[in-house]
Amino acid sequence: MHNDPGLFATIYSARALRRFKPDPIPDDVLFQLMDAAIRAPSGQNAQDWRFVLVRDRDHKRKMQEWAEIPWRRYQARFSEHADGMDSLPRSQRLSLKSVEHLVHHLAETPVIIVVLGLKGRHSTPGGSTFPAVQNLLLGARGLGLSGSIFNFPLSREDALREMLGIPDNNEIYCVLPIGYPTDRHGPLGRKPVRAIVYDGRFGERWSFAEAQPDAGWQDRWLGE
Ligand SMILES: Cc1cc2nc3c(=O)[nH]c(=O)nc-3n(C[C@H](O)[C@H](O)[C@H](O)COP(=O)(O)O)c2cc1C
Repeated sequence: MHNDPGLFATIYSARALRRFKPDPIPDDVLFQLMDAAIRAPSGQNAQDWRFVLVRDRDHKRKMQEWAEIPWRRYQARFSEHADGMDSLPRSQRLSLKSVEHLVHHLAETPVIIVVLGLKGRHSTPGGSTFPAVQNLLLGARGLGLSGSIFNFPLSREDALREMLGIPDNNEIYCVLPIGYPTDRHGPLGRKPVRAIVYDGRFGERWSFAEAQPDAGWQDRWLGE
């Protein structure tokens, strides 16, 4: 199995990579991924999450069709500018290009995982589902895979429910395309800690964080 990069190197490098090799994910790797995902905490340890692994080519093709619908609305926004997406700052442009790639290649993604949770069971419903999603995304990185949340196929949620036989008492929380990435993992573009974390009271600066580099401590885990 893949050489685990270690927890912090994993956290600091788990980018949302959206271009995948065609290689299938072996069942033992997929089992390891899901077995790690369900180690996550949930309210009262209820574990009301459920996961559907979508590998059927026709089902993936349908999901691609449904993903193209919101993408066309995205595109319309950029078509007002002469250069469209090319007018965006580099990082935004690259990220959007990768979204575009995934939209048009979703059917070739090795596995698309649909994440479900029982409706009406928890006071903070997402809170009892997304810890497992994050375990899954970090677990994917640890296994040399990559994934991200990609909700465009939910544009036809009713059709997706019907296709996968998802009962009404289950919420669909998100969709996770997973595969072996062609792009490289990490570093992550994030706001600096000092802009996000307050000391004691909302808005109060944390002097230690003020003295740290804007890129945080990524270099400690990723090297140069
Ligand atoms: C709740 C949630 C919904 C998201 N939905 C989508 C989506 O529909 N399509 C998409 O391409 N990315 C989606 N993302 C992925 C984010 O765009 C991505 O995690 C973010 O841009 C950070 O990317 P990075 O880790 O590569 O820097 C979603 C992420 C979250 C947490």
